[in-house]
Amino acid sequence: MTRIRFPDFLLVGALFLLGLAGAGGARAATQTHTVTNYLTHCGGCHGIEGISGRTFVPTLRDQVGWFVCSPEGRDYLVRVPGISMSLIRDDQELADVLNFVVFRLGGSSTPTGTRPFTAAEVHKLRAQPLQTDDLMALRAEVLSRARAACPH
Ligand code: HEC
Repeated sequence: MTRIRFPDFLLVGALFLLGLAGAGGARAATQTHTVTNYLTHCGGCHGIEGISGRTFVPTLRDQVGWFVCSPEGRDYLVRVPGISMSLIRDDQELADVLNFVVFRLGGSSTPTGTRPFTAAEVHKLRAQPLQTDDLMALRAEVLSRARAACPH
């Protein structure tokens, strides 16, 4: 599944963490933990910078933010199996990872004024994982409705 060779993954991950550690204080510690969680639980499929390349795994970088343009799309982001069923069981930690994905990796695709995901929102929605025979078709429909609702 992973397209990243292991030594590269470690090196780039370490540089990423060192950069964040420079920010200082408890906030940096939380951020570092969040990035470690992303790298450990998500990065193998989605790529360390949210670029998954030529796989069936969607690219997050500069695209994932489109989903939050509709309430349905926002819910989808928590209900998608990779998130709702994540081994990150702590709702706050999962919300932190999702916010990292949406606000950092999502870049300009994320509309200004988007509310961060809360632990309560994650708690409620992860209990309703998407159930469909054709996740890719459902994803395409949710995404096209969300994009139509985006400001740009
Ligand atoms: C086993 C590979 C895999 C893992 C691990 C994984 N994902 Fe995914 N992710 C996918 C696939 C494939 C999709 C497309 C929907 C589907 O088929 O589940 C997806 C969809 C998404 C989406 C919706 C965006 C879109 O374009 O559909 C987000 C956001 C996301 N993943 C974030 C995460 C986060 C955060 C983690 C870690 C907590 C994670 N994923 C773990 C494979 C993975």
